[in-house]
Amino acid sequence: MDPNIIAPGRHEPLRIGAIGAGLAMERLHWPALSRLRHHVVPIAFAEPNDASAARFQGETGLPGSARYADYRQMLDRADVDAVVILLPIPMLHHAAKASLEAGKHVFCEKPPGGDLDRAQEFLGLERAHPDRILFVAENFFYRDDLRLARFHLDQGVLGRVHSLSWRISGQYVPRAGTFSSTPWRHQPGYRGGPHLDGGIHMMAAMRLLLGDVAKVHGLIQHANSQMGGPSTFVLNLAFASGTVGNYSAIHPEIVVPPDDNRLRLYGDAGTMTLTPPYVQESRGFDVHDINGSGQSWRVSRTSSASVDGGYVNEWLDFVAAVRTGSNFVGSVAQSVMNMVPLLRGLDSAESGGEVDLRANSPLEISASSVPLWVPTGGDGLFHGLDIVETRTEGST
Ligand SMILES: NC(=O)c1ccc[n+]([C@@H]2O[C@H](COP(=O)([O-])OP(=O)(O)OC[C@H]3O[C@@H](n4cnc5c(N)ncnc54)[C@H](O)[C@@H]3O)[C@@H](O)[C@H]2O)c1
Repeated sequence: MDPNIIAPGRHEPLRIGAIGAGLAMERLHWPALSRLRHHVVPIAFAEPNDASAARFQGETGLPGSARYADYRQMLDRADVDAVVILLPIPMLHHAAKASLEAGKHVFCEKPPGGDLDRAQEFLGLERAHPDRILFVAENFFYRDDLRLARFHLDQGVLGRVHSLSWRISGQYVPRAGTFSSTPWRHQPGYRGGPHLDGGIHMMAAMRLLLGDVAKVHGLIQHANSQMGGPSTFVLNLAFASGTVGNYSAIHPEIVVPPDDNRLRLYGDAGTMTLTPPYVQESRGFDVHDINGSGQSWRVSRTSSASVDGGYVNEWLDFVAAVRTGSNFVGSVAQSVMNMVPLLRGLDSAESGGEVDLRANSPLEISASSVPLWVPTGGDGLFHGLDIVETRTEGST
């Protein structure tokens, strides 16, 4: 039984209660949890929507008696070790607080609050419950393609990284069966609409690769009557490490032609191009060196049927933290630091000036990057990962 290793010593699986079993459970977390049955098993859930509840019961085999109308009743159960909170963003804090007060460890989806005041409240929760794990999910910190890219950046594959460029565009309208269909995303009760909900992952990727952002300048546009929040967010970024760059997310309501969507990093010794953030297959990155030669890295896992977006890894980190008290990457602080450049970028768009985050952040800005997740009990950073490396001489 590898998948995918945890600490020595045999443990009973962690027993979890789910608060919310909507799309994120169906598409992201259940596919991961169903591969980790030795480590974590759902025993109860709270979900008011009958169709979602029936689907979750069908997937998990849980009986009707495992369903709760009110999650506070589920929190009274002594046999629930931990909860996974998958609620609309404005509801996350309340549920995390109630769960911690009931003595549960918490795996909570991002972002920790819909603005920086709520983020401060999340930081307060962490301080108030030092004996419990409060984990804020950020799957991009755990993606194998991004971890491998970061490893090679640390090895100096690009030399000094001086610039970054990333444009993501695409039509964004409510589509049945997708995240955009959920009504709470149409009139978002959190700042920035899709630029916080989805943009937080892009910021996580940039911080994982380059460290904290020190200054931002933002611009916004409204060209979408169907989804709340600005449709365009243009963000100029100066990282504490010295890298400068631009991240633009453009989500109008009309159809737009397919975009490249690839993050590019420009260094003194080469250029790195990452595969688009949401491709399902063949994830990785290419490096073009100073001679125009190309080298590409692609990652996959033999133990999994499909490429995982980091969800299995983040659950492994959470379980290890609960079991052993080990440090974990998905902390409240790391997720808050993903929010800060986005929310201060929105402030900048409103005020019209650059914002220096060193004087406008709830936490210290650091040039060192997010820690790389190391699988517990495995043989190093890339335990169980298949890495295919190919080289093309003289390509451009
Ligand atoms: N990491 C990622 O890639 C990713 C992707 C999508 C969503 N998310 C996050 O997951 C969370 C959920 O998003 P979603 O897309 O699944 O939304 P969703 O609307 O599909 O699911 C939320 C569920 O919560 C249920 N719910 C509402 N009130 C409840 C209550 N009082 N008690 C219990 N359940 C209740 C709803 O019925 C619904 O099924 C959000 O925080 C979002 O930011 C993360």
